[in-house]
Amino acid sequence: MKKILLILMLLVCIHFSNAQTSAKAKTDLAPTPPMGWMTWNYFGTGINENIIREIAEAMASSGMVKAGYDHIMIDDGWQGGRDNKNNIIPDPKKFPSGIKALADYVHSKGIRLGIYSDAAQLTCAGYTASLGFEEQDAKTFASWGIDYLKYDYCHAPSDSNTAKIRYKKMADALRNSGRQIVFSICEWGGRQPWFWAAGVGGQLWRTTGDVRDSWGSMMHNLDINANLEKFAAPGHWNDPDMLIVGLRGSKGPAGDLGGTGCNDIEYQSNMSLWCIMASPLIATNDIRNMNEEAKRILLNDEAIAIDQDVLGKQGERKIADSVWNVFVKPLADGDVAIAILNRSSASQNVSINFKNLGLDDKYQVRDLWQHKTTGIAKGFKGKVLSHETKLLRLKKISSK
Ligand code: GLA
Repeated sequence: MKKILLILMLLVCIHFSNAQTSAKAKTDLAPTPPMGWMTWNYFGTGINENIIREIAEAMASSGMVKAGYDHIMIDDGWQGGRDNKNNIIPDPKKFPSGIKALADYVHSKGIRLGIYSDAAQLTCAGYTASLGFEEQDAKTFASWGIDYLKYDYCHAPSDSNTAKIRYKKMADALRNSGRQIVFSICEWGGRQPWFWAAGVGGQLWRTTGDVRDSWGSMMHNLDINANLEKFAAPGHWNDPDMLIVGLRGSKGPAGDLGGTGCNDIEYQSNMSLWCIMASPLIATNDIRNMNEEAKRILLNDEAIAIDQDVLGKQGERKIADSVWNVFVKPLADGDVAIAILNRSSASQNVSINFKNLGLDDKYQVRDLWQHKTTGIAKGFKGKVLSHETKLLRLKKISSK
């Protein structure tokens, strides 16, 4: 009897430790929001291995890698069909040395490599995709040393059930591929993936359509993503699409549909708002030719620390009127981050009592764009420029 009891207890222990390991393995793939750079919004399908190598060098030399942007994602347009064994292959003109050699090079710079496919026969730009070849493609990606897969949903049926089945199929295939590969679900929010994407094996899911290089597009994506804070946590994240910082109205997909560019205050808001929402930070500007402002914004380590905070809370939008949006994000060390956005077309003064945000204490206030501690306060009073976002870090001083 004693023996049976002991065996039973042992089995229970093994069961729980397995469950813990698998939960941990899932979180380990994206314990904080993924960071990196993606080809799409600047280069479109006009990509090749030289561009990726140059970007990798620029990512390392500009400080992007050191700041945490540790992925390069190759988006649509890399594919060259399938070989006579149905293995997916890169376009031999764009990637003559193959993806494995490129991955080795990118890895040598301390950067992970991401790639792109689609849950149908063709991708959004009309290239070869993975439907029916999930296992084979996942193994191919693993053999190349791929670390991240963005999986799109063009040319696929619109119902949610099919989407769940197709995304799960690829997530399972990645898990069986023998390599840890982050799975990024990209069906643009239409089937409310925040309810099911983590369950089928995604580490992040797009909540919105494609971002364009304009203030209106940024606000559109913000308004969708801002209501989804309860679905984000370590291991799985809402993705309101790439950062448009530094694009400056350049040609490329983000330049379409009114994407004529933003000013630097607006790009700074993009960074602040994506950080307060614990969004993936995926730049898409030409890293080889960044101006000082783009660097200042993308490399703000104090803003990045808010995004990457290990508590993994997406900031909650506590005030949302036509002028002011105020977000509150609790941090792992007990500090609180606040973002105050002026959406109007005029500079305005504002006075915000922290109490009205549920913050009852006195705080030491640090302005994360000025990189300055501004004093001890129970609120924020000051001018916020049109389309500016103040990003503050509050440290509790005393109770009441
Ligand atoms: C869709 C995605 C974009 C990009 C393109 C590529 O539009 O949402 O992010 O990947 O496809 O064709």
